[in-house]
Amino acid sequence: MRPRHPKSLVTGLMWVDFTRPDWFTSIRHEALHSDGLQTYNWLEHDGESYGVQHLEDDKFNMTTAAASREAQPQRPVISFFYYVAAEGLEPLEFDAAAWRASVAGADGAAAAGPPPATLRGSSRPFGRFAVRVGATGAPGFPAGAHWVGLRTPHTANLTEAVKQGLRRSLFEQRRRGAEQYVLRLPDDAEPGANVYVLQVLAWLPATLEVAFVSGAAVEGAAAAPRLDALWGRPRSAAARARFQRAFPVSRSAPAGAEVVARAALGGLLGGVGYWYGHSMVWVVDNWPPVLPNWDAALCSASPSRPQFPRGFLWDEGFHQLLIRRWDPDLSRDILAHWLDLMASTGWIAREQILGDEARLRVPAEFVPQPTKAANPPSLFLVLEQMAEGLAGAEEGEEAAAAAGSAGTTHAARDREFLTRAWPRLLAWYSWLNTTQAGELPGSFRWRERDANATRELNPRTLASGLDDYPRASHPTARERHLDLRCWMALASRVMSRRRLERDAAAYADYDALRRLHYDPAAQRFADWGLHSEALRLERPAGGGDMARVEDEAPEYRFVPHHGYVSLFPLMMRLIPADDPQLAREIGYLLDPSGLLSPAGVRSLSMRSTLYGKHNTEHDPPYWRGAAWVNINHLLIDALEWYGRQAGPYQAQAREAAVRLRQIVLSNLVQQFRQTGFLWEQYSDTTGEGKGAHPFTGWTALVTLIAGHE
Ligand SMILES: *[C@@H]1O[C@H](CO)[C@@H](O)[C@H](O)[C@H]1NC(C)=O
Ligand SMILES: *[C@@H]1O[C@H](CO)[C@@H](O)[C@H](O)[C@H]1NC(C)=O
Ligand SMILES: *[C@@H]1O[C@H](CO)[C@@H](O)[C@H](O)[C@H]1NC(C)=O
Ligand SMILES: *[C@@H]1O[C@H](CO)[C@@H](O)[C@H](O)[C@H]1NC(C)=O
Repeated sequence: MRPRHPKSLVTGLMWVDFTRPDWFTSIRHEALHSDGLQTYNWLEHDGESYGVQHLEDDKFNMTTAAASREAQPQRPVISFFYYVAAEGLEPLEFDAAAWRASVAGADGAAAAGPPPATLRGSSRPFGRFAVRVGATGAPGFPAGAHWVGLRTPHTANLTEAVKQGLRRSLFEQRRRGAEQYVLRLPDDAEPGANVYVLQVLAWLPATLEVAFVSGAAVEGAAAAPRLDALWGRPRSAAARARFQRAFPVSRSAPAGAEVVARAALGGLLGGVGYWYGHSMVWVVDNWPPVLPNWDAALCSASPSRPQFPRGFLWDEGFHQLLIRRWDPDLSRDILAHWLDLMASTGWIAREQILGDEARLRVPAEFVPQPTKAANPPSLFLVLEQMAEGLAGAEEGEEAAAAAGSAGTTHAARDREFLTRAWPRLLAWYSWLNTTQAGELPGSFRWRERDANATRELNPRTLASGLDDYPRASHPTARERHLDLRCWMALASRVMSRRRLERDAAAYADYDALRRLHYDPAAQRFADWGLHSEALRLERPAGGGDMARVEDEAPEYRFVPHHGYVSLFPLMMRLIPADDPQLAREIGYLLDPSGLLSPAGVRSLSMRSTLYGKHNTEHDPPYWRGAAWVNINHLLIDALEWYGRQAGPYQAQAREAAVRLRQIVLSNLVQQFRQTGFLWEQYSDTTGEGKGAHPFTGWTALVTLIAGHE
């Protein structure tokens, strides 16, 4: 945990089971797949000050915020390590006697009066603060209270520090000729220590409680209220009531949908973090090509705690669809942080790897962010809601003002936000409009595809966010990408709402879209470019990695793959409600031998030649079949929207929305029940969760899907 302030104070918890033979490498600290927890997630979280997290480890079930555990007949012993680290290197004052007294209470020897603070210090933004850490374990075990104090700027990798402390104390015990070793910290501190790790050894059930006070309350630190007075049933009931008001789960949703929806929102809000530091940027025509950006702050949600614990630009637009509904102030705050990361050119790095802790989780070759590459400007999804809300508010302004409702306040704040964000939005839009433009007017092309790739069956398009989704097999400057054109249509629609951008909504023009992207033979929308269908991977005669072999020369044509990219005109509501193409698109969505799967709409049609194919010998399919919740959400939302527009296909759209929603929802609920996780994607053959987990980024959109009728 940390406040949203650079060079401030971080605290955290590790635990280890010393009876495991592999205890040395199994210290739990960061969310890592390799720890193999059965499950962990914020079951409830309000994004601000309240959260309940449940973790199931091998022998321990834990609930953090109370860190309690059910009684066990065999009384396992646990070691907790709680740390407080001043990132700005301010020394901490540690009171060893107070620390021992707070844990000795575990033996039933009730301390006379509340124990004094364990740690005191001074740190931004709190000023003076005090931390009181207390623990109680089951009686009968000589509970241990140990510690180590370090002076170090490396507050991001404290698992290592704990290991080193344990090792040092073992050596010391051996040197003294101890007959039995205790796995404990060495009980010493470096001068001026800015990091303290406090260890509690206890019999279960055990409780660890930390009280943090700052400002005037510091001198009375010991009298801080007990956690169970702040946490527990009343707080939980209030959080649940607020959830039910914000996200009423529809009556037709499958049983268990509300539990999943609450855990999804909890996971998303609990994954909101604060990072501070600089990106490394990769400037193609510069020497040196990799340069540090300026130091900046980011408050953002994140896709997945173990796999993607940082900000991702195109994920964030989806996250905000939920966060805006829960807490519009938090949402505007996050959007503002993102827009502040924009370079003067209008470019925003797609992955925000700010600070040491974030960097520790990214392989070095992926750290530099290419300044020529874009990423879907999905923030416009939520900006469009904001702009639509404002238009509505302007119409009903007087009535609302008379009522003095919270809605008016939020409309006013949205208006202020959009006004202040406007120069940045314009810069972003203009950057996309110029740097990502295609050869034909009104067409667009993702940059950074590798035209010289020899091992990829279809060179990836990382900028699009859809990595290995198949495009034209031979990247050229002439190709045109349908999804980017549709993102631009969305962006231009939002920009034109403010009427500051004359005819910017031109990209939403349906006839122009058809001229560039409609394949009349296949009767659907498509990318266009230099493409061959007759390609395969083959091992070269001399051995080595498999390489791409071309059985037929490519030609300029519509790219025949059918999947998420083809569906963007529908998702972005660019097809007129009375156009027969709408009926065709709905038919495609519901065709089980094409796009419809037991997990929802699949990313690539089963009829596509690259369906389920590896892209290289080593890269399994990613966006080549599996169903993703973000796209399914956009599809359901668009179908419902068409279901509200008068037209010949209105009823068809409405029914398709209901059907798709039921399929996606029942699979997600079932998978959550079976595995305890939300997943990055879902198998389009079995419905099973795949990839990163817990993935409470855009998969959390299940919360919105569960609310649709
Ligand atoms: C942890 O909880 C799970 C699910 O409730 C249960 O199946 C399991 O037995 C529990 N494990 C322990 C060690 O209590
Ligand atoms: C922690 O990481 C820093 C670099 O971020 C490194 O210099 C230091 O040695 C690491 N410390 C430990 C104990 O691994
Ligand atoms: C977008 O690009 C088109 C074509 O180059 C140009 O006419 C238009 O003015 C541009 N709009 C903005 C806002 O840059
Ligand atoms: C690809 O190959 C061509 C011709 O060999 C070369 O001119 C070009 O620089 C290469 N592009 C990249 C990105 O390596």
